[in-house]
Amino acid sequence: MLVKTERGTKDLRAVWWEDGAVRVIDQRLLPDQLQIARIASYEEMADAISDMTVRGAPTIGASGAFGIALAWAAKSDLRKAAERLRATRPTAHDLFHSIDLMLKHGDNVVGAALSFADSIVSKCRRIGEAGSELIRDGARILTHCNAGALAAVDYGTALAPMRVAKRSGRDLFVFVDETRPRLQGAKLTAWELSNEGIRHAIIADNAAGHYMKSEVDLVMVGADRIAANGDFANKIGTYEKAVLAKENGVPFYVAAPVSTFDPSLETGDGIVIEERSADEVLSIGGVRVAPDGSEALNPAFDVTPGALVSGFITERGILGPGEFGRLHDPEL
Ligand code: MRU
Repeated sequence: MLVKTERGTKDLRAVWWEDGAVRVIDQRLLPDQLQIARIASYEEMADAISDMTVRGAPTIGASGAFGIALAWAAKSDLRKAAERLRATRPTAHDLFHSIDLMLKHGDNVVGAALSFADSIVSKCRRIGEAGSELIRDGARILTHCNAGALAAVDYGTALAPMRVAKRSGRDLFVFVDETRPRLQGAKLTAWELSNEGIRHAIIADNAAGHYMKSEVDLVMVGADRIAANGDFANKIGTYEKAVLAKENGVPFYVAAPVSTFDPSLETGDGIVIEERSADEVLSIGGVRVAPDGSEALNPAFDVTPGALVSGFITERGILGPGEFGRLHDPEL
């Protein structure tokens, strides 16, 4: 991703391997500060996933792979490392997929993790190309949370088609849901779109219906886990955006690599929803806004029925919920 700094433009990934350790953009500090953190052990990687220094399903997947690589390089017990990394965040399928993949590599796990991270980037590029076909010149698109390069090592999932459309000269405008409580939209998506020169406006989450009625042409979001029938988990608030899109006749697309599909789940009922600290809801910017004694509920994700999805944009093309059999077609 292109990042504008005081000293010029840099091309960065969300997570990478350098000099025997992992480097990540500390996503908790954006957009105020661009700080690169060094992660030297699998325990540090587990902490970075839990505290959301790194976040977003494919980036969590790559981070899990690098976590196992760190454990392998340090000759630690890989089963123990896998257990610790798996216990960080329960919803994103990519984490479990990448850890399982790394455990199958007896030797050179560092090399395997590097190729895994590279493969995410090339898949996201293909998602961008496939999805950009849906974006006409002048399109007005709504997105929720951050499904950009920060969330997917590079390029992004839902933001990849927008990058490709912009780079091929199309004009577009993006409504960015602020995404309370952690504000991934207002902080991270808006930062990525600014770096890319894509016109956008941040809207309060509860303004989406107002714009969906007349101004939004298309919704594009990412996913953390997709069940065999197309039900999918994504950032809390996605479900209500899908209902609004249906009510207003707005096409609703989900962009995700095949690694986000969990064939072991028939429906979304089996998806584990992470519950985060009540403090994220009770406070804004570290300042408590709720009365003393009030409690809060804070599910990090919700599940949207597959029936509300117009199509899934994958590295293997755009698929309807009834077409997932094609994901296993080696010809695609
Ligand atoms: O809690 P987060 O910030 O990790 O949640 C991220 C999302 O919900 C994204 O939309 C999803 O991971 C898709 S990322 C390409």
